[in-house]
Amino acid sequence: MAKVKTTFFCQNCGTQFAKWQGQCTACKEWNTIVEEVIQKPEKSDWKTPSSVKTRVSKPLTINAIDSSEDARLNTQDQEFNRVLGGGIVPGSLILLGGEPGIGKSTLLLQIALKLPYKTLYVSGEESQKQIKMRAERIHANNETCYVLTETKTQNIFKQIEALEPDIVVIDSIQTLHSDYIESSSGSISQIKECTTELIKFAKETATPVILIGHITKDGNIAGPKILEHMVDTVLQFEGDRNHIFRILRANKNRFGSTSEIGIYEMQGSGLKEVSNPSEILISKKDEELSGNAVASTLEGLRPLMIEVQALVSTAVYGTPQRSATGFNAKRLNMLLAVLEKRAGFRLGAKDVFLNITGGISVDDPAIDLAVVAAILSSNEDEALPKDYCFAAEVGLSGEIRPVQRVEQRILEAEKLGFSTIFVSKYNKIALKNTAIKIQLISKIEDLVNFIV
Ligand code: TYD
Ligand code: MG
Repeated sequence: MAKVKTTFFCQNCGTQFAKWQGQCTACKEWNTIVEEVIQKPEKSDWKTPSSVKTRVSKPLTINAIDSSEDARLNTQDQEFNRVLGGGIVPGSLILLGGEPGIGKSTLLLQIALKLPYKTLYVSGEESQKQIKMRAERIHANNETCYVLTETKTQNIFKQIEALEPDIVVIDSIQTLHSDYIESSSGSISQIKECTTELIKFAKETATPVILIGHITKDGNIAGPKILEHMVDTVLQFEGDRNHIFRILRANKNRFGSTSEIGIYEMQGSGLKEVSNPSEILISKKDEELSGNAVASTLEGLRPLMIEVQALVSTAVYGTPQRSATGFNAKRLNMLLAVLEKRAGFRLGAKDVFLNITGGISVDDPAIDLAVVAAILSSNEDEALPKDYCFAAEVGLSGEIRPVQRVEQRILEAEKLGFSTIFVSKYNKIALKNTAIKIQLISKIEDLVNFIV
């Protein structure tokens, strides 16, 4: 609750004073000075209009609770729907984080313009003209998207009350400020206060609110960690700014799984949904090049065929260089050590560069075998057959370890026309009569025998 601002007025002549005194210095009258409130202590946050009925909660037995789900709002964007678990839940608060310039504003404006509901897009970062220019660029247009440039929450709520939108988008939470907190926009107390007000609004009116949040240098959403606890869903928009692919992930989701991802491609005219990522991520080259290998990975629950490129060359300087893009550098060093010790390759004096194409970074351990295959192929300068692919983890003793959902990976590889997939002997595979050959291996030496 903010402090109530008061001042002193002479009831006789109206002169204003900062503090009480017995005699008015202007009209010389005694006892005429009275304290007055100059700003009414408005309620500090969203005030539910009387037309909206607020529910009073009563305890119920679990059997008595109505389990039918409220209809989710379909965003018309299949990738966004999928990540949310089937659309936007009424009254939910969604926080979308991502690096500057990655395309958060573009994504949400695009979704706002596709929505068949009355949408209010509040921007504290860009003017209405700039937003119009962006909308023209993404060739989207509709009659139900309203744009407001405002940063004060009290004013935003006034507009919301007048407009009664079905969805509110806030770009960004760091630019908002509430009158009831002294500190500047973007400070922790402001972010917390503004979010609390928005949560109250969202829960009481069942209007979903999507917030854009900036992230700090180390990739966390700027502001208090508690912000992530307060909202229902935390989405992360990521990708390499110099590449065209963007991945939307749910880090937290109260209404769905966190293992789904959405893939977009940044084009000159906005973000395009990518429904067949595997086909786009592997280059369809005619000639076979050494140092390339394809991994069948899983991003969330979606299989994704990814191309790994390695370059192994003799180190020019004393200390060999190791660099990895899109792959953990420590893991690369580990795999090199395994190759050195278990397969007898002298890689200690070689530079090794590794790149995951498409600017995607992969955590799935099933990519290990493709990394090893790419390194071996580059080291021997011998191309792998381009219809080979790999899906297994490599252990410290050179064993080929099983990976989860191997059948899904095999089917994806088969669908894309690969002839052979290398997987661990220890994976239980029930697939029969596949067109793709499933090559089972148990040690790194087995791989060496096949491809070198
Ligand atoms: P933006 O949505 O402003 O990023 P954020 O809100 O996350 O900071 O995206 C800006 C980038 O997107 C900018 O570098 C240009 C690029 N872009 C396109 O390539 N095509 C487009 O149609 C649009 C609107 C932006
Ligand atoms: Mg922006």
